[in-house]
Amino acid sequence: MRKVGTIIDNLRKGEKAPDRHENPYLKEALGLSDFLLTQNELHEKYASLFTDMTKPIVIEVGCYMGKTVLELVENNKDKNILGLDITYKRVVKAARKLKRNSSENGRIAICDGKSFLSEIVPDNSLLGICIFFPDPWPKDRHEKNRLLKSDFIKLLHAKLVPGGFFWFKTDHEPYFLETQKFVLSSGFTPDDANDSSPLAKPRNIRGDSYETAFQKLFTAKGVPFYQRVFLKH
Ligand SMILES: C[S@@+](CC[C@H](N)C(=O)[O-])C[C@H]1O[C@@H](n2cnc3c(N)ncnc32)[C@H](O)[C@@H]1O
Repeated sequence: MRKVGTIIDNLRKGEKAPDRHENPYLKEALGLSDFLLTQNELHEKYASLFTDMTKPIVIEVGCYMGKTVLELVENNKDKNILGLDITYKRVVKAARKLKRNSSENGRIAICDGKSFLSEIVPDNSLLGICIFFPDPWPKDRHEKNRLLKSDFIKLLHAKLVPGGFFWFKTDHEPYFLETQKFVLSSGFTPDDANDSSPLAKPRNIRGDSYETAFQKLFTAKGVPFYQRVFLKH
């Protein structure tokens, strides 16, 4: 399985980053250890990741710089929110915001979503999985790189509690239709009653709930997007 975050692991052990990896984000990662975990650290600490582990856990795979994680954290204090991404700069920027707010119910990890689900999370344990605007790989020859393939969707289903949700958004219609086909054949049912947000509506926000960074860009350009919430029974 793919592994990311080892440079931060090494820095936290006191080793020096290889020259080509010297950058201010890596140095900043050292001071964010309460909010930013590496894939290795998640393996060790997942069972005690949040201050109150009795709260249900919702994850966002591909959280980018944490805009949506931050909003989810602020609007859902009765839940624990974990954002995952695979690039150093993005996770540091996301964790920096959680530290600034001293968020007890929010964490970020530099971790591949597939490895996290298959190696770290117990079955029947997550309340929700959000995947918003995953890279669409629109060219036919790159389609194999898409995250949301049939096996991955079966994994999502296995990791959710009964009644848990998978919330998906994309601007790419073929990806939406293909994913929906896999999702519906994996034991999920659509939850259209939930008005496109299975979580608490953000306060003081107009328009669509939890507008992500990419969603904002597409909306500004007038590009339509698709979203649906699916439930595990
Ligand atoms: C197109 S961006 C969308 C970001 C954000 N969800 C939004 O809507 O603004 C996709 C993000 O997924 C991350 N990503 C890609 N593959 C991933 C994986 N296997 N595990 C976790 N994150 C991944 C990328 O690094 C990138 O930040």
